Amino acid sequence: MPLDHVRLVEVGARDGLQNERRTLPASVRVQLLEHLADAGLRTLEAGAFVSTRWVPQMAGTDQVLKALPSRAGVSWTALVPNVQGLEAAIAAGCREVAVFAAASEAFSQQNINCSIEQSLRRYQEVIVRARDAGIRVRGYVSCVMGCPFTGQVKPEAVAAVSAALFGMGCYEISLGDTIGTGTPAVTTRLIEACSQVVPVSALAGHFHDTYGMAIANIHAALASGVRTFDSSVAGLGGCPYSPGATGNVATEEVIYLLDGLGMSHGVDLDALIEVGEFINAELGRETASRVSRALLAKRGRLHIQ
Ligand code: HMG
Ligand code: MG
Repeated sequence: MPLDHVRLVEVGARDGLQNERRTLPASVRVQLLEHLADAGLRTLEAGAFVSTRWVPQMAGTDQVLKALPSRAGVSWTALVPNVQGLEAAIAAGCREVAVFAAASEAFSQQNINCSIEQSLRRYQEVIVRARDAGIRVRGYVSCVMGCPFTGQVKPEAVAAVSAALFGMGCYEISLGDTIGTGTPAVTTRLIEACSQVVPVSALAGHFHDTYGMAIANIHAALASGVRTFDSSVAGLGGCPYSPGATGNVATEEVIYLLDGLGMSHGVDLDALIEVGEFINAELGRETASRVSRALLAKRGRLHIQ
């Protein structure tokens, strides 16, 4: 793959929708995912096999996966927190899953009810079972530039968890700035630390845009050699329980940045903006993508106050 190509992992139907106030039925989530694939996205998180008591928005992920047609070159993936989730993913026909650890003890306890060490032991089991079933596993590390409960997180702590997941067999490690507090200089230091233990070609950036730094952080990560980024159409997400929190960086913003840099990505921006309009109507919300707002306004389809 040429160095000027960027791979996008579309997480709107999972990370975005898991944080929306309105829970969408499986049929609408399937339509969203199919439209996103039509727009050119090739790796798409379709949901999460987690406890519906913890994340009710992800109920029916099995129905979503079962309804999605297999498409050449398209990978529909799902989050799994344990072997129970993996078995459900396999039963639904999923061929790729993601496990999710954290670089902060407090966040690990809050998110998956166990310590970092316990989570890594669970993921070891998940990866062994996934390998037997011929399923690819991606690894997430959350809180890479800050924890909502304990503040600062050291790059070395992130590197240690990244190395453990990569060593177990995750093909890629996605570095999650869960609360969006990171800045470009911190991003550069983070990639420097993680690329000592995981090849930079196997690192991905997962930036939430809470402080408006996501695009700047992606630019810094690109300069450090990262070529895979996670994003959500229309910047879906935000937390109903945390005023002011926003979602992932909008996929539209990433495409606009990459176009400006002359880097290829394979996504049709106009088609993507239409997908954003579709899902915003379903959710009863405005787009969080400034690129989308600007281009729709230019075409007279959005009145900016
Ligand atoms: P627990 O309560 O410790 O689990 O939760 P347990 O093993 O004690 O089981 C309790 C109940 O949960 C049992 O049901 C199990 O069957 C059930 P009961 O007998 O009481 O009826 N259970 C499950 N149900 C469905 N699917 C499963 C599953 N496992 C057990 N896989 C657990 C532990 C991990 C399940 C829970 O904490 C959980 O589901 N957490 C998920 C949290 C989550 O999804 N967070 C969001 C994703 S991470 C993220 O967004 C960050 C990321 O975007 C990167 C970034 O931005 O940083 C990836
Ligand atoms: Mg996230």
